[in-house]
Amino acid sequence: MIPQGIPDMIPPGSTIGMLGGGQLGRMSALAAARLGYKTHVFTPEPHGPCAQACAAETVADWDDEEALAAFADSVDVITLEFENVPAPALELLSALKPTRPGSRVLAITQDRVAEKSFANQLGIGTAPWRLADDAAGIADAVRALGPSIAKTRRFGYDGKGQAVIADPDRADTAFAAIGHAPAIVEGRVDFTHEISVVLARGLDGQIAAYPAVENHHTGGILSSTIAPARVPAPVAAEADRIARRLADALDYVGVLGVELFVTRDGAVLMNEMAPRPHNSGHWTIDACPVSQFEQQVRAICGLPLGPTERFADAEMENLIGDQVDRWPTLIADPGARLHLYGKLETRPGRKMGHVTRLLARSGQQV
Ligand SMILES: Nc1ncnc2c1ncn2[C@@H]1O[C@H](COP(=O)(O)OP(=O)(O)O)[C@@H](O)[C@H]1O
Ligand SMILES: [Mg+2]
Repeated sequence: MIPQGIPDMIPPGSTIGMLGGGQLGRMSALAAARLGYKTHVFTPEPHGPCAQACAAETVADWDDEEALAAFADSVDVITLEFENVPAPALELLSALKPTRPGSRVLAITQDRVAEKSFANQLGIGTAPWRLADDAAGIADAVRALGPSIAKTRRFGYDGKGQAVIADPDRADTAFAAIGHAPAIVEGRVDFTHEISVVLARGLDGQIAAYPAVENHHTGGILSSTIAPARVPAPVAAEADRIARRLADALDYVGVLGVELFVTRDGAVLMNEMAPRPHNSGHWTIDACPVSQFEQQVRAICGLPLGPTERFADAEMENLIGDQVDRWPTLIADPGARLHLYGKLETRPGRKMGHVTRLLARSGQQV
């Protein structure tokens, strides 16, 4: 049964190529399997969370052109769960098979300067920022911006590659702390809330957006998400508008996570984008008829997007490092939906799983 009027549809039974082998790929592969798709993962690290849920695994480096070509040959469409796939690998793959999202999106989202410039050009506010290629540049930026955060332009995640700096005389230390890498310096935003919008955009430009959610971080790592965000309706609507604007301007296909700050005066600023399912969207697996991972499959395969309604409000808690040792208690708790990622080794700061609790609209657990 093939839905009419959907050009370029990649039907169930096809194979999805997944770049990156972590938990986001794992949960995408599980959603793909539910809809009758197979997943083939390409990852430099063997036996990871994604491979455990896949029909096929290629273990190779991102510069292994032969392996990349063979991988492309064996799949029908390519997506990713790791946004730092090197540009040459992505170019090679996208010449062989539809790759969603594609090179242009990755070029923008891999570089904090390109990303913030892109948003600013669309009239979307961000933290005030400056480029800094060395310690002197960081010092200049801090003089202009006041208390700041220096971040590596590329490869940062979970607060890594960042240094808080308020005194320009400390620029050397900050530059060393981020590994002497080219940097962006951002003025510190005095936010009341950190929120995010996860949306899917289809091949036809249709968008399905989940409500804005509220995120809490510990040590730069997401610790919990409350869905929906406890912000005034106009703030949530502005976040939704910004996320849609970004997705349209990128001509995006797939799931996009947009992280935002809500300032004390109610302004909504973009912090960063993730060109893939986002940790703050995990609650949708348990609280919504169609999860962010199923939306990813639908979007990249040219299927109609699903509803983004929810059965219930939700609270998602990440299990980081040895917090995963709480699993025997959580699995025995009827109100806790436990997700474990099958990581072979527990390390501090590593995301090992998450737990979602559903809440009735009244705030009571269901
Ligand atoms: N300009 C800023 N002002 C205030 N807090 C910030 C700023 N940039 C980052 N942070 C804090 O650091 C966290 C991680 O930074 P982010 O830019 O999202 O990098 P990552 O890629 O590590 O998630 C944010 O979620 C926020 O709590
Ligand atoms: Mg972030």
